[in-house]
Amino acid sequence: MLKTQIRSLDKKLNKTLDNPFINASGCYCRTKEDLDQLITSSYCSSIISKTCTPLSRDGNPEPRYHQSDTLSINSMGLPNLGLGSYLEYFNTCESTQGIKIISLGGLTLEDNMAMFESIVSKHYMNLVNIDAVEINLSCPNLVGHGQLGYNFNNMNVYLLKILNIVSRKEIELKRRCGLLIGLKLPPYFDMNQFEKVANIIKDQLRYGRRIDFLTCINSIGNGLVIDTDSEKVVIKPKGGFGGIGGSVVKPTALANVRKFHELLGDKLFIIGCGGITNGEDAFHHLLAGANMLSIGTQLMKEGPEVFKRIGLELEDIMKKKGYKNVDDIIGKLKTIQ
Ligand code: DHB
Repeated sequence: MLKTQIRSLDKKLNKTLDNPFINASGCYCRTKEDLDQLITSSYCSSIISKTCTPLSRDGNPEPRYHQSDTLSINSMGLPNLGLGSYLEYFNTCESTQGIKIISLGGLTLEDNMAMFESIVSKHYMNLVNIDAVEINLSCPNLVGHGQLGYNFNNMNVYLLKILNIVSRKEIELKRRCGLLIGLKLPPYFDMNQFEKVANIIKDQLRYGRRIDFLTCINSIGNGLVIDTDSEKVVIKPKGGFGGIGGSVVKPTALANVRKFHELLGDKLFIIGCGGITNGEDAFHHLLAGANMLSIGTQLMKEGPEVFKRIGLELEDIMKKKGYKNVDDIIGKLKTIQ
């Protein structure tokens, strides 16, 4: 019942997933043990690594993650094992039925180009066991590094340089690159911003560069949570500022999924991320236009069993409403005439 198709402009990359669920990058995916837990005990069809850099990083000082009933705040600072470790992990991992994604978030364009080039070259030599690369344009927690997704000029140049790596290889080797390529976007709040970003992406596609999916949204950057008793911030880095996730971001996430589905849904698929805590939230993301459903804060709260619970709740809603397939729900949101 939860099976779903993801579709790329390159039809060879279309794939049927057992269910639309995936962890949000950053959640349960930093260490080998985390990833093992996701793979063995959960009902998510697909898995994404922690956003990684070329070499391992410890990240920001603790406490750097805090959650309450309605939200989470984090300023992790990209603690990760380094690209090589995640590639190695996926090489030794037999399952998953769905897609395996590496999330890339180097601190410089050069780092990202080098990582991307290395993945693409290895992919052509059958040396990697992944299906997709997600380029993170939206980490809000690095001091001195603004979010690329909010700087449209830089984003355009950056995409051109990164995506050209694949285009060049495809020409040189006269063979399509079989990796799906996606962008993790920050939340946008203004209609102008949606249009601008969609136009940047359309331009890339027009010049033959590949973008197969968008992940909407990353955490809402630089929120502040205060504890009344201690009169203190709740996380240490950046004076308490951090990315906000959880239920409170759901309306923003839905709006971003909806807008990008309207503007680009015929060209790429969308991973909806933000505020999915139960079957109804999952249903709302699908209606808005999400093809896959990414769970972060609630995964941190409940652990990998969360996917089974939310999957069953979604199935219940579908049965009550007479839906037989997830694909019949996607993008079907109605407006008031
Ligand atoms: C981190 C946070 C993010 O929201 C993200 O997309 C990537 C990295 C972090 O602080 O580690």
